[in-house]
Amino acid sequence: MGLDGSRALITGASSGIGRAIALALAADGCQTLLTGRDSQRLAEVAAETGGRTVVADLSEPDGLGRVADAAASFPLPDLVVHAAGIGRFERMAGGTGVDDDGTHDDGTLLATNYLAPVRLTRALLPAMLDRGSGRLVFVGSIAGLLGVAGESEYAASKAALGTFAASLRAELSGSGVGVTTLIPGVVDTPFFERRGLPYQRRFPRPVPAARVATALLRALDREQAQVVVPGWLRVPIALQACTPQVYSRLAGRWG
Ligand SMILES: NC(=O)c1ccc[n+]([C@@H]2O[C@H](COP(=O)([O-])OP(=O)(O)OC[C@H]3O[C@@H](n4cnc5c(N)ncnc54)[C@H](OP(=O)(O)O)[C@@H]3O)[C@@H](O)[C@H]2O)c1
Repeated sequence: MGLDGSRALITGASSGIGRAIALALAADGCQTLLTGRDSQRLAEVAAETGGRTVVADLSEPDGLGRVADAAASFPLPDLVVHAAGIGRFERMAGGTGVDDDGTHDDGTLLATNYLAPVRLTRALLPAMLDRGSGRLVFVGSIAGLLGVAGESEYAASKAALGTFAASLRAELSGSGVGVTTLIPGVVDTPFFERRGLPYQRRFPRPVPAARVATALLRALDREQAQVVVPGWLRVPIALQACTPQVYSRLAGRWG
């Protein structure tokens, strides 16, 4: 899709991947509507992109409603990027479902990572279909395709989002509204600090958020259904799909 002059709603625009996507879209001539919870960081991104902002908590119905209203009167976006998301590191055995500081629980995780994009889509889709054009981008995760020890609930929330996106893509076939799933591997953002455990593995090395944004823009240009960053992650994805036994043995060895 041509981005110059188009309008994009980006959730999670105040940090990390969402911020990088907002900067890249603005550099390509998009008008941006940016959402996040942190008003100061969001204002900084708005200053860099020239975008408008809506400060809102997407795990709360009123926050979601304000973003949907702002998007509908933006006027209606051509592109919606669902990048807001949170992680949780907790092993099932002995876990409580509540973060140590008591602010987040497994319900917030599901509300932010799965329900918010689904409900925002439900709110905006009818008008996009009436117009007969647009693209929805769902930011999934390699965790949602392969599963990750200690992050089972996070991985499941992303798997749910990925399956939702695949089903929606089939449902919208021929409508003029397309669906792209962005599957990042490990990306250098504050995500890991916030999930309750900093990233500690030596491999794979985190990639810069700007690289994810560049890959997404290329995928949008080609109207791709899915983009995986870094690209070599397609190898374990294919391995797990084709030979789950072999994949499971290798994953057990390398983690
Ligand atoms: N980093 C990785 O390695 C990685 C890998 C795969 C997938 N992902 C996915 O990529 C997406 C972006 O993550 P990131 O790495 O950029 O992390 P990040 O830097 O922590 O950014 C997360 C963004 O989501 C927003 N957000 C979180 N909870 C929210 C809520 N309840 N309501 C509204 N906004 C909320 C945050 O807003 P505030 O900062 O304003 O609170 C922030 O803008 C997430 O969906 C994540 O699951 C990340």
